[in-house]
Amino acid sequence: MIKILTIIGARPQFIKAATISRVIRNTENILEIIVHTGQHYDDNMSKIFFEEMDIPEPHYNLGIGGGKHGQQTGDMLINIEKVLIEEKPTVTIVYGDTNSTIAGALAATKLQIPVVHIEAGLRSFNKKMPEEVNRIMTDHISDKLFTSTDAAIENLKKEGICTTKISKVGDVMYDAALFYKEKAVRNSKIIEELNLANNDFVLATVHRAENTDTKERLSRIIHELDKISKKINVIFPLHPRTKQKIEEYKIITKNITFINPVGYIDMVMLERTCKMIMTDSGGMQKEAFFHKKPCITLRSETEWVELVESGCNFLWTDEISLMDLYDKVIVTELDLSRNYYGDGNAASLIIGKVISTYKYR
Ligand code: UD1
Ligand code: UDP
Repeated sequence: MIKILTIIGARPQFIKAATISRVIRNTENILEIIVHTGQHYDDNMSKIFFEEMDIPEPHYNLGIGGGKHGQQTGDMLINIEKVLIEEKPTVTIVYGDTNSTIAGALAATKLQIPVVHIEAGLRSFNKKMPEEVNRIMTDHISDKLFTSTDAAIENLKKEGICTTKISKVGDVMYDAALFYKEKAVRNSKIIEELNLANNDFVLATVHRAENTDTKERLSRIIHELDKISKKINVIFPLHPRTKQKIEEYKIITKNITFINPVGYIDMVMLERTCKMIMTDSGGMQKEAFFHKKPCITLRSETEWVELVESGCNFLWTDEISLMDLYDKVIVTELDLSRNYYGDGNAASLIIGKVISTYKYR
């Protein structure tokens, strides 16, 4: 029996873990213990994903949300270590690049429990981002690195990570996009509730520290989105970090339609129906492509470089106004002919490899 201990805590990790967790439940001789660090804790940032996506209730919720990086990561490290000592798993799984990721990877490595990193190898080459530090450190202490893209493999090779540890399997978020599409079409009422129609709105999200942690930067983004919303409706599900900052900086906007964070099922429908996505979210850049929509990334660099190279994703840099970029993007034909993110079976490939690697451990 292989005992996997999954460590998750932030919204995108619930979505990634949903696909893996389902495969584990359908596989014999493998058991999953889920540890939720509590990094995201509002019902619409956490509980809704477990319910809608049929993710099993976490065995542990450590309740560690908010606080500064050191405090948050340190508290996670201390408490994850306790769970690992208690549960003695064969292997741990961590996802992406959040503080929950690095805390989980570090706690396990120090106890000599192998770490599997899903969505490994991504780089923005901007170490001011907390995520960049988390992902570099996690990759270098992981035992097995599952990547979604060729670019990620190249990044890992350049950093000297042994190629035998790396497997390209596709992207678990693509698995999720395919799996939940029908459920979203069937169950979501968000388009009717917000009185929206096909292609008549831009879907925007912002939450990255580099976009929210100075008044100047967040004001610019909101004011540029406000101008666009005089032309086309802008629907903006508001991340709690961004909400706090808009209030703190007293940024006023009249035209943007802010809504509370939505569950995955509603988000899929918003993505499928909108005219364009504008976001600093890593996950939503890919989802724009999955749902065949253009994306403006509200950052000057991205980890998903293949989407920029193929002309499906457009980076917003300081020199151009968002409106000018929007005008350019709406008349651009997208090249959707290539699929960069696998065949929708990344989760099965990962679990197959985990079993063959760790079955005798
Ligand atoms: C975190 C990740 C980021 C990821 C994002 C996904 C790190 C360093 N950052 O950023 O990589 O893209 O999650 O959404 O791990 N808050 C609430 N309610 C919640 C969750 C958060 O009020 O349910 C508040 C927190 O108290 C905190 C702020 O939002 O004040 C930021 O939360 P935090 O988890 O620290 O970082 P995120 O910006 O969510
Ligand atoms: N998402 C969601 N509801 C929202 C905003 C985002 O379900 O209100 C989903 C989105 O579809 C994607 C994931 O959350 O699957 C992305 O998470 P987020 O943007 O918080 O983090 P990132 O991907 O940037 O790490």
